[in-house]
Amino acid sequence: MQVSVRAGAAERVVADAIVLGLFEGTKRLAGNAQAIDKSTGGAIARAIKSGDFTGKNGQLIGLYPSSGKIQRVFVVGLGDPRDLSAERVRQAAGRGITQGRLMGLKHVATLLHGTGTGKGQLDVAASAQAIVEGSILGNYVFGTYLTQDKDRKRQVRQLTVVCESAQLAAATKGAKKGEIVAESVCLTRDLASTPSQDMTPADLGTAAKAIAATSPLLKATIHGPDDLKRMKMGALLGVGRGSAQPPRFIVVDYRPKGPIRKTIAIAGKGITFDTGGISLKPADGMEKMKYDMSGGAAVLGAMHALGKLKPAGIRVVGLVAAAENMPGGRAVKPGDVVTAANGMTIEINNTDAEGRLVLADALSYAHRLKPDAVLDLATLTGAVVIALGSQCGGIMGNDPDLTTFVIESGERTGERLWALPTWPEYKELLRSDVADMRNSAGREAGTIAGAMFLGQFANGYKWCHLDIAGVAWNDRDKPYSPKGSAGFGVRLLVDFVERMAAAKK
Ligand code: BES
Ligand code: MN
Ligand code: ZN
Repeated sequence: MQVSVRAGAAERVVADAIVLGLFEGTKRLAGNAQAIDKSTGGAIARAIKSGDFTGKNGQLIGLYPSSGKIQRVFVVGLGDPRDLSAERVRQAAGRGITQGRLMGLKHVATLLHGTGTGKGQLDVAASAQAIVEGSILGNYVFGTYLTQDKDRKRQVRQLTVVCESAQLAAATKGAKKGEIVAESVCLTRDLASTPSQDMTPADLGTAAKAIAATSPLLKATIHGPDDLKRMKMGALLGVGRGSAQPPRFIVVDYRPKGPIRKTIAIAGKGITFDTGGISLKPADGMEKMKYDMSGGAAVLGAMHALGKLKPAGIRVVGLVAAAENMPGGRAVKPGDVVTAANGMTIEINNTDAEGRLVLADALSYAHRLKPDAVLDLATLTGAVVIALGSQCGGIMGNDPDLTTFVIESGERTGERLWALPTWPEYKELLRSDVADMRNSAGREAGTIAGAMFLGQFANGYKWCHLDIAGVAWNDRDKPYSPKGSAGFGVRLLVDFVERMAAAKK
């Protein structure tokens, strides 16, 4: 979708529809909203006066003016102004654009709303960013494999954000950022939605190369099986053994120009398909396991965004441990022992707990970067879906300040996280009779056990693990996230990196 920002004269914008957001309890329209109301012969004011439009959060009405240049007005409710957040604005924009997309409209305009000086309002750049993010994300369609029904592939082609003259500079800046971030999320969604036959570990490596080519500040290195042997990544190799598609370890390095004060690593689980291996999963719903590389896809999406946003003073290294978990003739079997890159031995008592194995080698690798912080993202456990559902991801780590900092990024971006404990006593769950540890603790505290396992490989630096199994995929439409891959984590990671770059220590 092509995005542009223009100032003033909303009533003269030539578009198929114009979206405007209004707070609950709005009595008098002002600025561009007033201009539109006037040009539509007072249609908005009548909708308010009649009581049909209250401005309740999530409400949407469509008006068809009989005069003026504007064909359709979508009025969306922003709710109580005191509760306003970037997330609300994003959702309102998502609702507006979805309406346009489903109607087959080509050009949608939107007023910059939610700004001002009152309590609970956003600054102009933040509002523009949220509007563009919500619009691009709500306009998303995964159409690669649709050949028959053209309507299913329809998308809005053009978005025009209309603001007041004094807002133009800030709005343009915010819109540009929103565009970069949202396009990166869409890239992540594409990767996660692509069927595993076309998104093998090698394909993921090719995608990483293509992403690195979009910025002079990015460099991708793809390690194949021979490199993995040399790096002693026995856990990643072990997971890949049952598949005809060999594993890859993908490194995407972002280095800004000028002095570097901090280094961060972001690691993603890149299981391009998870059959469970010899500990085979049930057939029902197994097709969804193509999204088991969503953590890795989020890392790649975030790297794509960073290459364009170019934050200063911070090096960010994206790591994706990619493998296909299959029950082939050479597959690891329950009871087998593998040795991770840090030298620890792991008894694989369940081959379906493979995500922690591939991440063990990624987290071991991260030590050489001497990182100030490491985050990993993984669709690691079904247990987190049971515990937290699809409203937030689980977060666990070894440094409470870092965990709080990451949670804040989640709040700021609408990608919410909830912390679970990592008391050392939980390590008992992973005791093995034959090796340094086992990879599965069974059903007890499944999400925490996964984190405790990973923590063994992340000792020596500040680290957080994000279990995104419940949020990476939407089983139903959300306001700006249609059913399918949510691209969860990209916005949070970008915000995290920018705030880390700006933070004193
Ligand atoms: N990829 C799955 C976790 C998952 C489940 C992601 C549902 C998304 C939706 C992971 O590899 C897995 O199989 N985990 C096991 C761990 C168990 C064997 C300790 C699980 O959750 O059952
Ligand atoms: Mn599994
Ligand atoms: Zn998995």
